[in-house]
Amino acid sequence: MVIPMNHASAIAANKAAWDATAPLHYGNPMWLRLAAGFAAPGYSCFDNVMQDALKRVCLAGKKVAQVCCNNGRETISLRNLGAEAVVGFDQSTAFLEQARELNAIAGQDCVFVEADANALPPAYAEQFDLVIVTIGVFGWMPDLKRFAKQAAGLLRPSGQLLVYEEHPVVNMFEPRGLEPLKVVHSYFRNAPFVSCDAILYDDTPRPQVPEHYWYVHPLSAVFTALFEADLSIRAFREFSHNISSTEFDLLETTESLLPMSYLLQAAKN
Ligand SMILES: C[S@@+](CC[C@H](N)C(=O)[O-])C[C@H]1O[C@@H](n2cnc3c(N)ncnc32)[C@H](O)[C@@H]1O
Repeated sequence: MVIPMNHASAIAANKAAWDATAPLHYGNPMWLRLAAGFAAPGYSCFDNVMQDALKRVCLAGKKVAQVCCNNGRETISLRNLGAEAVVGFDQSTAFLEQARELNAIAGQDCVFVEADANALPPAYAEQFDLVIVTIGVFGWMPDLKRFAKQAAGLLRPSGQLLVYEEHPVVNMFEPRGLEPLKVVHSYFRNAPFVSCDAILYDDTPRPQVPEHYWYVHPLSAVFTALFEADLSIRAFREFSHNISSTEFDLLETTESLLPMSYLLQAAKN
């Protein structure tokens, strides 16, 4: 295994891995649920935490961007929930094809733009009232400060950023191991996790895809990246429920031992 020498090669490797994984998502049970769901007007795939957060933000009349939108299920849900216009950015050509298909099924007008989140097209600068980043995005970014600056750059002055992410603490465990709750990795791990497993969200077998790189960003790095992107944190909540791959369900305990996800709201200064 060769660790990429620079961020650009890691980003390109991750694109190849996501593109190679996309056909495994197409037509699987989750896809079929989404296709059936979006066939009905007003469908939303968001859980209660996000539904409540979006209600508080009030989507009506807002221009919204989703960075790293994958198959667009949340982008289209935002439009279904009342956003005036929604743009989804992702660098995976193959997943954006799926997003456009779901958009057609929903009869919606979301726009999907293929772009590296670390170098978004300047034409979108300061065009949005709200930017959302959700479930498994920060870890793909070798340089979180750069990513945060790009996401913040999409916002108009006093626009809002809403993040609903996997908690970095979950990266300390190997839930498929004999002792799922044993700490295996440092919270402050510097080296990325390197894998060739297809990027699936459930427990089905994972065929091999091109090598990909997952970076651990402790919360202090997340906060610093947002501050340096001229964003002020307005709200932050941690939860003990898993929003990531089902393998992490093994870390959910009745005693709520671990923080597994968080919701963060920030505003552009
Ligand atoms: C786990 S998925 C996001 C899932 C989405 N929030 C959802 O719940 O449906 C992560 C996405 O980030 C995208 N991604 C990773 N690195 C990227 C980059 N540098 N630029 C743009 N998109 C990127 C991948 O292509 C993938 O679609």
